[in-house]
Amino acid sequence: MLEEFTFVNLRVRLGNRSLKMNTLNSNRLTFGNGHHHATNHVKIEISALNLWYDYGSLHALKNVNLMIYDREVTAFIGPSGCGKSTLLKCLNRISETIPGVKITGDILLDGMSIHDKAIEACRLRRRFGWVAQQPNPFPRSVYENVAYGARINGIVTERKDMDAFVEGCLRAADLWDEVKDRLWESGTRLSGGQQQRLCIARALSTKPDVILMDEPCSALDPNATARVEELIDELRKNHAIVIVTHNMQQASRVSQLVAYFHLGELIETGNTEEVMLRPKTRMCSDYVTGRFG
Ligand SMILES: Nc1ncnc2c1ncn2[C@@H]1O[C@H](COP(=O)(O)OP(=O)(O)O)[C@@H](O)[C@H]1O
Ligand SMILES: [Mg+2]
Repeated sequence: MLEEFTFVNLRVRLGNRSLKMNTLNSNRLTFGNGHHHATNHVKIEISALNLWYDYGSLHALKNVNLMIYDREVTAFIGPSGCGKSTLLKCLNRISETIPGVKITGDILLDGMSIHDKAIEACRLRRRFGWVAQQPNPFPRSVYENVAYGARINGIVTERKDMDAFVEGCLRAADLWDEVKDRLWESGTRLSGGQQQRLCIARALSTKPDVILMDEPCSALDPNATARVEELIDELRKNHAIVIVTHNMQQASRVSQLVAYFHLGELIETGNTEEVMLRPKTRMCSDYVTGRFG
């Protein structure tokens, strides 16, 4: 009785989101969000990438070759420790800042090496938005969480333009209506789901073309997760997105392309629906059907 009551309430509150909530709680894989198109622009090309930690003692990425496309969501999946986060951090050149790391191979962004001497690392990093596992807003106002990146990176130079810019980022992160009267409150006082959407707004504040998300929903409840997933689908219209996820349902719902890793190797990649329903390798099949991982 109570459950039914709660469910009805949820439907009323969420409106058209209730459908999503149903799929969120079921074990069925749903593929609501389109297919990978090989004709889309190749945003990132990873070629023969190797990475060693601890001065060569741990070979964490082994000859990885992968294309990431614009206007698509690519999901990195695979058991813990297989190198998903490491690869994500290679894309924005964070991995190379870790002491004892050695990297070989190359990564092209729009056809240009991310290590090209002509681009400074900080200019390059600005083109990547980063969303971490735990919502981690700065302990500053909601407004400042977004304004900061735009100001220090010279994205917005005139003070009079900042209000509109902050509003635009908060709207793009589907947060504006909830925070428009709380702009001067600390970002850390928002709910977990709102904090994560604030972090997404902050990630948008440098006008990135790629958004990297490392298990962005793992600390969120199903409702907050559904909102972030809808947002990812919306942001895909203008960005290349890479998401690390442990949740196969989430990978099915939000991504068009999947890359399955095992012990630092890219084992299988392809259309999400293909990989999820008809994996070609035994390892990937065992993982997506939940036999290990
Ligand atoms: N900073 C680091 N120093 C040394 N080893 C690391 C570091 N970060 C990750 N590793 C190791 O590299 C491998 C890949 O890790 P990671 O990329 O975090 O995997 P995943 O994100 O798939 O769980 C693991 O064996 C992990 O222990
Ligand atoms: Mg990780």
